[in-house]
Amino acid sequence: MTPLNQLEEWQALRAHQKALEHQTMLTWFAENPSRFTQFSLEVSGILLDYSKNRITSETLSLLSNLAHAVKLPERIQDLFAGNPLNLTENRPALHTALRNRSHEAVYVNGENVMPDIQATLHRMQQLTELVRSQQWLGVTGKPITDIVNIGIGGSHLGPEMAVHALSHFGSENLRCHFISNIDSVHLQDIFKQVNPETTLFIVSSKSFTTLETMTNAQTVRAWLQQSLGTTNLNPHFIAITSAPNKAAEFGIPAEQIFPMWDWVGGRYSVWSAIGLPLALMIGMDRFIEFLEGAHEMDEHFKQAEFSANMPVIMALLGIWYINFFEAKSHAIVPYAHQLHYFRSHLQQLDMESNGKSAALHGAAIDYTTGPVIWGENGCNGQHAFHQLLHQGQHFIPVDFILVGKNRSNIGDHQDILIASALSQAQALLHGKTPQQALEELKSNNLSDAEASFLAAHKFIPGNRPSNVLFMNEITPHNLGALLALYEHKIFVQGVIWNINSFDQWGVELGKQLLPQILQDFTALQPTQHDASTSGLIQHYKKLKETTDSH
Ligand code: F6P
Repeated sequence: MTPLNQLEEWQALRAHQKALEHQTMLTWFAENPSRFTQFSLEVSGILLDYSKNRITSETLSLLSNLAHAVKLPERIQDLFAGNPLNLTENRPALHTALRNRSHEAVYVNGENVMPDIQATLHRMQQLTELVRSQQWLGVTGKPITDIVNIGIGGSHLGPEMAVHALSHFGSENLRCHFISNIDSVHLQDIFKQVNPETTLFIVSSKSFTTLETMTNAQTVRAWLQQSLGTTNLNPHFIAITSAPNKAAEFGIPAEQIFPMWDWVGGRYSVWSAIGLPLALMIGMDRFIEFLEGAHEMDEHFKQAEFSANMPVIMALLGIWYINFFEAKSHAIVPYAHQLHYFRSHLQQLDMESNGKSAALHGAAIDYTTGPVIWGENGCNGQHAFHQLLHQGQHFIPVDFILVGKNRSNIGDHQDILIASALSQAQALLHGKTPQQALEELKSNNLSDAEASFLAAHKFIPGNRPSNVLFMNEITPHNLGALLALYEHKIFVQGVIWNINSFDQWGVELGKQLLPQILQDFTALQPTQHDASTSGLIQHYKKLKETTDSH
């Protein structure tokens, strides 16, 4: 198989990049009054304006040629058909089946997985109804007031992001908390906020072996036993896992264990029972709307021509910048308080999926793959890192995520919020030429010397790309669609880079090394590590001695 960067489609893109490297988007806007219409599209309650990108229609058709050369249409079919795209673990990645609202069968190893998915949704419905109607009682007979999700990574980030984003649909009788960190400060904060008699803990772990989650779950169990004076904690625990025997060993009754399947990756699992905190907070009907929004995006992704396919377009723009403009990172800047955790979820989704250096069949690759995903909500980011976006030396494409109809609209806050986002995107596009800076300064009565000194500092290069994703409003449906959009974007990029987007072997090494270090904190004869690790172990032991003796 010809390596990606030797394909003629790749070479054509390289030549094309050279040709338009010094052209400006502003010129293209001036030449083509319909550039916005040409480079924007609306799908499932989301408008994507990608006109402020360093592209012409030729760029898009060359990128689309590359996508065809790597057989993207076939890989999309493989994804939905449940073919084992995750080669290192020999399994499919079937998060799309979890939100399949078409009632078409989906097969894994010859078995239709839809009945199991439907049965689980039904069980989720029963549980959510009982809890939300206050019929699910704690051991002392009181209804549940607080849900605490104990999980990390994919068993935490998606649910936390969605619960926060959809908080305006949340039940008035319930509060939802998340414990992910092993730092017991986190646990103690939660213990202060909840009443053990009325709290339901969800132990969310696909493997049911993750150290942070299991340690937190054990500490919570001990806290409950002590606070409630009983070992009968059944009504206070739910488990979601693909290892039900381990959850049973922990002491969770079989009827309170919800399944996960090995054909769902952790970071793609919010659509499964891992989404239970969300279902409990917004109710099952709305959880189904969340699935429906994602399903609508799935159908669009499957059916639309590449030239009008939102996930494909976003993925190709990423390839264009990462591989031809040497962009190393991508900023996610939602101008919506409710999307505060969206960037964190995307970080796992994108970086755990595409932070890879081996091609599918094992060869080392010599082109750049997944970018660093980072960002912050607007307007906060404007007063923190936007300076670097405007005048720094890094090439950083930005996704601005906006919401038209906000759940709160006091005074003119919403107008200012949207205007801020649009002006930031506009500033990235326009910049300020040295001449403009000079004229501006001179018109403020500065001397020539002062003006030319300051003009050099006030010069802003512009021509920096951004997408604007404008959601009509944050509903379960639209949030489902937005998340599925990014999932598919990441999938398309993985296909083009010829990597496995569904494994995460790099994460394992730290997990393997941890037990030995932990042991060495108390061992009389610690193991030989590198000098840095040994030195830090010794330093920690000394600190511990002084802390313990206080
Ligand atoms: O961070 C590594 C990881 O393996 C993620 O892929 C996963 O989402 C997370 O740990 C949690 O795993 P589990 O759901 O098995 O506890």
